[in-house]
Formats: sequence, structure tokens, C-alpha cells
Amino acid sequence: MKKVTVICPEKIGTVAPEIYGHFSEHIGGVFYDGLWVGKDSEIPNIRGFRKDLVEKLKAIHPPVLRWPGGCYAETYNWRDGIGENRPVRTNWWQHRDGRVESNAVGTHEFIDLCEMIGAKPYFAVNVTSITPLEALNWMDYCLSPRGTTTLALEREKNGHPEPFDIPYWGIGNENWGGGGNMTPDSYALEYRRFATVLKNFCGNRGEVIVGGADGADYLWTEGLTANLAHAKGRIPVDGMSFHYYCGKSGDCVDYTTEDWYILIEKALRMEELINRHSAFTVAHGMKDRMKLVVDEWGCWHPDGSGPSKGYNLFEQQSTMRDAVVSALTLNIFNNHCDCVKMANVAQLCNNLHCLFLAGGEHCITTPTYHVFDMYKGHQGGQGLRTLVSDNEDIRNGISVSSSVKDNVLTVTLANLSCEADAEVSLDLLGLDRKVESVSATVLASDDMRNHNTFEAPNAVTPVCAALDISSFSVPKAGVVALTVTLA
Ligand code: AHR
Repeated sequence: MKKVTVICPEKIGTVAPEIYGHFSEHIGGVFYDGLWVGKDSEIPNIRGFRKDLVEKLKAIHPPVLRWPGGCYAETYNWRDGIGENRPVRTNWWQHRDGRVESNAVGTHEFIDLCEMIGAKPYFAVNVTSITPLEALNWMDYCLSPRGTTTLALEREKNGHPEPFDIPYWGIGNENWGGGGNMTPDSYALEYRRFATVLKNFCGNRGEVIVGGADGADYLWTEGLTANLAHAKGRIPVDGMSFHYYCGKSGDCVDYTTEDWYILIEKALRMEELINRHSAFTVAHGMKDRMKLVVDEWGCWHPDGSGPSKGYNLFEQQSTMRDAVVSALTLNIFNNHCDCVKMANVAQLCNNLHCLFLAGGEHCITTPTYHVFDMYKGHQGGQGLRTLVSDNEDIRNGISVSSSVKDNVLTVTLANLSCEADAEVSLDLLGLDRKVESVSATVLASDDMRNHNTFEAPNAVTPVCAALDISSFSVPKAGVVALTVTLA
């Protein structure tokens, strides 16, 4: 039996709701025939967005949605996506499969989606192919008070007199690669120009996020943080991103026990990445200004396993393995909530590690969706230090995190083993209140490869369970969320 000890008086920090964030890029089927079906579609929609999806997404309290890319952001001209008669353009990704970008979804539509689902917008600013002045114009268009600038008047003419609320502005995307193939120093110089201009305009209405490393590229983080720290003036920065895809191991839906453990081990590396990237911000005295924003993360399986069978670029099915990767990753973020301020799983629909698969009249949720639903109680809670006994071997390991908000303690557990259930006892050490009730939600399946399809949309779905916290099971390849109500 493993003993899980929640050290109730030991608070790590606030679990920023934004850790439960999402990402939606103009790529493959994320928007077109995914999130967006168009206002004139026969598919039930709210001002063009798929109604079923909007309602399900809202139910899991998405705190933030990143847009328009990804690499797509680095050739995006915001002017293409406003007003009437929008130009049709090539798309960074889709010129490869002959599809073009209609720009049907632009700034107004995206903000409308955010408002429908209750998420804050997180814009990725093009650094590679526009100037800081053009980026400033986008900000002016979005944020200037009603009736002030020419761009604010244009926004009003396009149907939104009041400024948009856009609290996060990422400066570039993957600037070590698709974002201009820059070096840490050359990117830092671009960042200084964009961030100075944009932050001067938005002040405390917006945060500017510096583009960080590709996974374990610590040289990037070292160079970037040193460059910003040694500038003559104080460079505005409100967070540092990095991306980590744990990748693939075997096929998306047809994998072996060995494949399972290889992928779980790769996903667990997120913890070391957080510790090491964060260390550079500490070393340069910028820890508070440069909390981490893991604005792309997830599994990246071989193409072709989703319902569109390869037509939608990067679309993949999502099994119990993806659910466990989601659960352990979110546990890592919760356990490091003192240095992670946002994370955005990539991507929301019909793509890598998605929560929804949609096409035509179909729209289903993946096991990953259910994990985000089961974990939503952590949002805004105080993260609590949590220990697990006897947990060195991942084949027999579990991943845990806990948090408390008002009178509710949330404990989430993922079983890293795909072979054996984990027997667990929960000790609430130092709890100064009585436990009134405990409820549990369990996501599990008799086959670790199980997933939902258009034909069987609820093959994997969570169930409520009654359990005794002094002795309970976390099913193999399964996830359990406990809600402990305190007096
Ligand atoms: O999520 C797909 C792509 O992966 C994004 O456009 C890019 O940022 C990353 O390499």
C-alpha cells in the first residue's frame, strides 16, 4: 500500500487557473470544421462556433485560450482577419495540403469565442514577419478606449465599440525554429524592441511573455535570461514560455506495455524542465517577473489516427495513455505552482493531444477532456506539498497533487502503471478541520488503449465512486480525483 501524505499546512503557492489553459491554432482541423462551422451552417452553432463544443468547453472552466498560433502566428497579419471582404491567404501549415486560409475567424470572432467560454485571450504576436509598429497597431485596435484612436473607431465600425480585454501577449513563437531561426541573442534583441513598444502602450492592461526554449534547450534559456538581465534599461517581461512535447512511443492507439512506460517516462521529464528553466530566472534575479508559461505541451503521435484519417494535419486520437499523460503533467504543474503561471495544452480540437474531435455533425470529447474536468477544482486553490511513499519505480508509481480552496480539498492521482492497480491510503497531515465528506471521480478502462470515437463517444467516461480515503484503489492506467469537503 502506498501512503499519500498531504502536508496540509505547507502551501506551495496559488495554483493559477491559467495552468489549465488551452491552445487553438489555425492548423489542420482546429478551426475550420472543428471549432468553427460558420454562421450559416446547419450544424447548431453560436455565431459560427460549434454549439455543442462551446457548451462542453465552458463546463470545464477554460481559463485562457492561446491564438492564432503556433508557427501560424509568425506569418499572421491581423488586418486580414477584421472587417468585410477578408483576403484569402496561404497558411503557414496548410499550403502543404492545398488548403487556404479564409480568415473567417479573426480577432473579433476569436474574442467572441473566448467570451462564450469564459476564457481570457492570449495572443501570440508575429515577430518574424511584421514590425513592432504593426504589432502596436493591433494592440491599439484591440485595447484603445471607445471613440479615441482611428483604430478604435475602426473596431467600433466592425461591431465592438468597447475595447477587448486581452491580458496576455506572447512575443513570437518558437523563435529558435519556425519563428525566424534566431539565436538567443538575436531573439532577445527582437524581444526588446517588441516588448518595449507594446508594454509601453498596454501598461498594466497586458502582460508580455518572452519566448522560451524548445524542451531541454537550456542554452537558449541561459542566453536569453542573461541578455535581458544585463540590459541597460529594465526590459519589460511578465513571463517566459517554453514548449515541451513528450512526443510519441509506438502508435497513437495501438501501443505495447513497453511503449506505455517509455511515453510516461518522457512526460515525467516536465518536472526537470520546470526546475532547470526556472533556475535561470532565479539566478538572474527575475524569478517573479519570469514565471514559466508552458504554452505548448502534450503528446505528438504519428499522424492519421484521428477520424479524418490524416486529412487534418496533426490530428490524433486520444486514449487512456493521453489521459494519464495529461493527469501527471497537470499534477507536476500544481506541484510547481510557485514557478508555473500558465500552461496551454496543444491543441484544443482535431489536433495534437486534443480535448475534442469534431467533423460534420459529430463532436466528441476525448479522455483528456475528462481529466481537465476532473482537475478543475484545483484552479485558484492553494497547492499543498504532497508526498508519496515507495514511489521510485514508474512501473509501480503514481503521480499526485493536492490543493485547498475555501472548504474543499482536491487530491488528484494518476496510476503510472498500465499493469496493476495501486492501493493507496491518504493521510491529511496537520489538517486543522474535520472532514465532512469525500467524493471521488474515476476515469479508467479495462483496456489502456481505449478511446472515444464518433461511433462510441462514451467508451471512456468518468464515473462517481464511494471510497474510504484510508484505503482505496487507483485503477491501472487510470485517474482518480477526490473532493474532500472540510468543516
Ligand atoms: O502545435 C503544432 C506546432 O507545434 C506549433 O505551430 C508550433 O509552435 C509547434 O512546433
